[in-house]
Amino acid sequence: MAKKKTEGILSGSILDVPFYKIPEKIKLAEEHGLRVIHLDIMDGVFAPQISFGLNFARQLREITNADLEAHLMVVNPENLVNRISDKLFSRIFFHYEATMYPIRLIESIKRNGIEVGIAINPSTPIQSIEYLLSEVDAVLVMLVEPGFGGQKMITSMIRKIEQLRLLKEHLGYDFVIACDGGIKIENAEQLITKGANELIVGTGIFNSPRFPRVVSEFLDLLRKYYS
Ligand code: DX5
Ligand code: ZN
Repeated sequence: MAKKKTEGILSGSILDVPFYKIPEKIKLAEEHGLRVIHLDIMDGVFAPQISFGLNFARQLREITNADLEAHLMVVNPENLVNRISDKLFSRIFFHYEATMYPIRLIESIKRNGIEVGIAINPSTPIQSIEYLLSEVDAVLVMLVEPGFGGQKMITSMIRKIEQLRLLKEHLGYDFVIACDGGIKIENAEQLITKGANELIVGTGIFNSPRFPRVVSEFLDLLRKYYS
């Protein structure tokens, strides 16, 4: 990804895009400026659905130049991470709740030259991951419970974004504050003003009646705060 961590990032989540439409939708979104594709990898255990795996990600790599970021919603993320030795992903988010040894996992992702992000469920407070903030490139605040696209944002989660921004300023750390779930063009600005600099958006992009130009609308909004 190799971007300044204070840059505004829009990441398109394709979880709810029908498979046969994925190439066409990605192409249109890229034409409107989308540079990051978010892949929700779920195992049916940590999160209720089974979505895509590494083979699918490798196929996707063939059809787009966008950065791919993985959001692992799986138990034992170590097993999957050990099978990713190439530069398939620019960044891997794993869930704090899914591993007993987050520091080891962070180190093994970094060893592969991949950016590492830690994701937290709505039930996990920021305090739980405070000790990891110096080690990660990004933190993903889930605004919904993992598993499905198109859910409604839990607005009380916005406070966590603010808490993270304050910690980041106070401690002088440099990590991306990402948020995921229920983001639409109408509620995006409040997330940015609280401190989010990466918006992960699924149905708010790909199912929007204004697709694909809604991609430019999100990017304009991010540019307003992160030039
Ligand atoms: C939910 C996933 C999200 C999902 C977002 O578990 O992590 O990335 O695809 O979809 P929307 O933006 O529709 O909530
Ligand atoms: Zn996700």
